[in-house]
Amino acid sequence: MQGLTLIGSGWHPYLFRAEIKALTGPLEVIHPRVVYIPHTDSAIRRLSRAALLDQVLSSAGRIWLHSSITDGELAQHIAEWAGSNLPEGSFAVRARNLGTGIDGLSRSAIEADVGAQVMSEANPVDLESPEHEIVVVLAGQDDGPIHRDSMNFIGPKVVWGLRESAWQRESYAGRAPTERPFFRPVSLDARQARLLISLAHRAGVESATVVDPFCGTGGIAIEAALQGMEALASDLDGRMVEGTRQNLDWAGVSASVEECAVADVASVWGQRSGCVFVFDPPYGRSSWKSDDGLELFLTALSAAHQIDSNGAVCTMLPAGPEALSQNPEHDYQVMGRPWSELDGLIRERGWVPVLRTPVKVHRSLARMVVVCHPAD
Ligand SMILES: C[S@@+](CC[C@H](N)C(=O)[O-])C[C@H]1O[C@@H](n2cnc3c(N)ncnc32)[C@H](O)[C@@H]1O
Repeated sequence: MQGLTLIGSGWHPYLFRAEIKALTGPLEVIHPRVVYIPHTDSAIRRLSRAALLDQVLSSAGRIWLHSSITDGELAQHIAEWAGSNLPEGSFAVRARNLGTGIDGLSRSAIEADVGAQVMSEANPVDLESPEHEIVVVLAGQDDGPIHRDSMNFIGPKVVWGLRESAWQRESYAGRAPTERPFFRPVSLDARQARLLISLAHRAGVESATVVDPFCGTGGIAIEAALQGMEALASDLDGRMVEGTRQNLDWAGVSASVEECAVADVASVWGQRSGCVFVFDPPYGRSSWKSDDGLELFLTALSAAHQIDSNGAVCTMLPAGPEALSQNPEHDYQVMGRPWSELDGLIRERGWVPVLRTPVKVHRSLARMVVVCHPAD
C-alpha cells in the first residue's frame, strides 16, 4: 500500500510524532521531523486535526546519505522517480531544508536541475500555479532545538514526493487569542489548544466530544468546535463563561458553556461516551508550587472518570524550568510534586499517564504536557 510521508514543524519534533501517532496509529520514523504512515481512507481526514504537521507528501521516494552526493546525482534520482510518479500536467519543484539542511546540497540547484530533467510536453514547468508540486526535503540535523528530543539524529536523509492536495495546512491567521473580543493572559494559544485536543485522540477510537472544565476564555472549546467536535465547556468564574460565549460567537461556532466548579462537572454533563478531557488547570506566575492547583487537577481527573471512564485526558501542568534543560525522563517537579508522586495520584483516579514532555512557556516556566489513558 502506498503511504504518506509527513513533515513536522520544528517547534517540538517529539510532540509532532506523538500527535501523528495519536491521530493515525503506528508510524515509521524516517527523521525526527519526517514520518511515514499507511494511506488509509481516514488518514487524511484525521490529519486535518494536526497542529504540528507542516506538509503531506504522497508517492514519496527517499535516500539515506551514507556518502556525499552531488546536486546533479540527486536530481537524477528524483527525475527517475518522476518518470513513474508524476501525473500529466504542469509542475514545479520546491526544495526545502529541515534544520541545518545537508552540506554540499543546494536547494536552488536541485530545483533547477530536477525541473530541467523532468520537463516535457506532458509536464511543462509552471512556477506560479502548477497542477503538481514535487517537494524535495533536505533533512539535516536540528539547528538548536527549543525542546530536547528523545530521538537521536542518525544522519541526513533526502525525501521527495508529490504535495498531497487533499490535505490543506491549517491557517491560524486571525485566530490569536489577543484578537478575540474577550482576552485574558491565561488564554491558550490556538495551535497549542489544537495540539492538546489531537494528543487526546487514540487511533481506532472515535472521539467526538471535548470536555474542558476550566474553559477560561474558551481557547480549547473554539478549536474543538472549529474541527466539528462537540465542546462542553465550563468555568467557576461567570465572567469567563460569558467571555467564552462571546469568543465562540466571534469564531462563528457553538458549544455548551456552563458556570460550574470542577467538582460539579460530572453532574452537569452526566455519563457519556466518546469524550476527551482537555484542559489547563489554574496556575499563577509561580503557582507550580501551589497545592490548590494540584487539588483542582485531581478533582478534574475524578470527574472525567465519572463522565467517561473510557475517554482520554490531555492537559498542561505547571513545571519547574529545569524540565527544559535536563533529560526529559528525569523526576521533575510538576505542580509542586515530584512527577513520580503525581504519577501515583493520577493512577489512583483511574488513569495511566502514557506521555509526558515539557514545553517551554518562557525562561522561568515550563509546562508538562501529560496524556492519560484509562487504567483498565
Ligand atoms: C489557566 S485558566 C484556563 C485558560 C483557558 N484554557 C483559556 O484558553 O483561556 C484556568 C481557569 O480555571 C478556572 N477555575 C479556577 N478554579 C476553578 C474551579 N474550582 N472550578 C472550575 N474552574 C476553575 C479559572 O476561572 C480559569 O478561567
